[in-house]
Amino acid sequence: MQQNSSWVPLFPEQASTFAPQVDNLYFYLIGISAFFTIGIFLAITYFFVRFREKEKYATGAEIHGSVPLETFWSIVPFIISMTIFLGGAVVFYNQYRPPADASEIYVVGKQWMWKFQHQTGQREINELHVPVGQNIKLTMTTEDVLHDVSIPAFRTKADVVPGRYTTIWFNATKPGKYHLFCAEYCGLNHSGMGGWVYVMEQRDFDNWLSGNVSGQTPAEAGKDLFENKLGCASCHQMNDQGRGPKLTGKYGTDQKLASGEAIKIDDAYIRNSILNPTAQIAEGFQPIMPTFKGQVTEEQLVSLVAYIKSLGGNSAGTVGTATSSSTTGGGTRTGSSNSANNGNSSQLVAPRADRGDANSQGSNPNAPDEYSEPTNRNRGGNK
Ligand code: CUA
Repeated sequence: MQQNSSWVPLFPEQASTFAPQVDNLYFYLIGISAFFTIGIFLAITYFFVRFREKEKYATGAEIHGSVPLETFWSIVPFIISMTIFLGGAVVFYNQYRPPADASEIYVVGKQWMWKFQHQTGQREINELHVPVGQNIKLTMTTEDVLHDVSIPAFRTKADVVPGRYTTIWFNATKPGKYHLFCAEYCGLNHSGMGGWVYVMEQRDFDNWLSGNVSGQTPAEAGKDLFENKLGCASCHQMNDQGRGPKLTGKYGTDQKLASGEAIKIDDAYIRNSILNPTAQIAEGFQPIMPTFKGQVTEEQLVSLVAYIKSLGGNSAGTVGTATSSSTTGGGTRTGSSNSANNGNSSQLVAPRADRGDANSQGSNPNAPDEYSEPTNRNRGGNK
């Protein structure tokens, strides 16, 4: 199942729908560069011989310019550069606008590992399993510094930015095992911050899902935080009587702000409203919500966003994903996640810790603040 070569030497395999597009554009650029480089060198060589000095102090012919010639050498490069621009724009828009039916996977980068969580609750570290032929959208952020998700075989990469959600999507075309890299220098172990993407046939992927007992799904974990752990529900009630706005059916809709502007309720707005609640107050409400900065991890924020999304709204495609993709593995989900649904709050308080095995470092997203991964500074201090 592993094929890690391409028909072009030194190129990673073409394993997503983007790969041929990116490669074709790249070869087109190389072709143009090669054509002009070779042409210019041939011309230099020819002129070098043809116009070499035959007679001392000869006077050259007078040239008065040529409108057709100048028009030609202005228009042709313009057309060439526009084809490059249009090719690049098509590839860019294609890559950075996820289709509505894409299944979402949450990605949190931290020094120095990648954490993934599927809509069905499975968590992975430095490994990502995806089905072949499906649109997959990654919603990504980071707990510390800039990182960059890069999957060369899919010809896609994007920065992962502190305090912000970025997204990429892809549709893998070949089952196999492909490199996953961090492509932004992020400290001591940057070069080791990577792993593998496993592209599997749908049947194998379903087996994999069922073999990896899920914890709470992101939406379930978010519900638990919302109702129990953080107590959001005491103000954001399901009716309009709460001190904060009701959140049911709001995702993807436009919200009028106290300042008079309107803003679309998206992942970024929800995140910002949790961390910086007084910045964008919904019309008709008082700025009384306390900030939750420092009290929720990036993974918990992602869960809260997933929960609010699951309450419905305007974005049928995105909201639908949570349920539609869970049907794939739904039949195989075990009782543990179902009991979580029933409000067993002692179990509910935190999403379960990542499963660590010999190769992946497990980490508990809910560990107290004092807990920290080793950093450069700590390492230095341990010497
Ligand atoms: Cu993370 Cu480089």
